[in-house]
Amino acid sequence: MSAYLKVARLDSLQEGAIFPLDLNDKHIILVRMGNEVYALSGFCTHEETDLANGFLVEDRIVCPLHLSQFDCRTGSVLNPPATEPLKKFNVKIEDGWILIEV
Ligand code: FES
Repeated sequence: MSAYLKVARLDSLQEGAIFPLDLNDKHIILVRMGNEVYALSGFCTHEETDLANGFLVEDRIVCPLHLSQFDCRTGSVLNPPATEPLKKFNVKIEDGWILIEV
């Protein structure tokens, strides 16, 4: 059964940074774009590289190993060698807190 867990204050996340989070045995990355926050699986679907060590280019997360890119908003993969999307987690913002459904 899933539930929303409070993980961080919205104002603690800088735009342009990838924020790693380990929650209920899941490695997750958070990306803030304006007042929206996106939560995605933190491992590249190609060879399970930690995407917290990657970087952002506009609205894309770039894997540090072979440079596949993923859409921050949806997790969809944009170029090879990765072919599978990142899992996306539901996010709510309440009273300045970020809550993730896990
Ligand atoms: S491990 Fe990410 S593209 Fe290869």
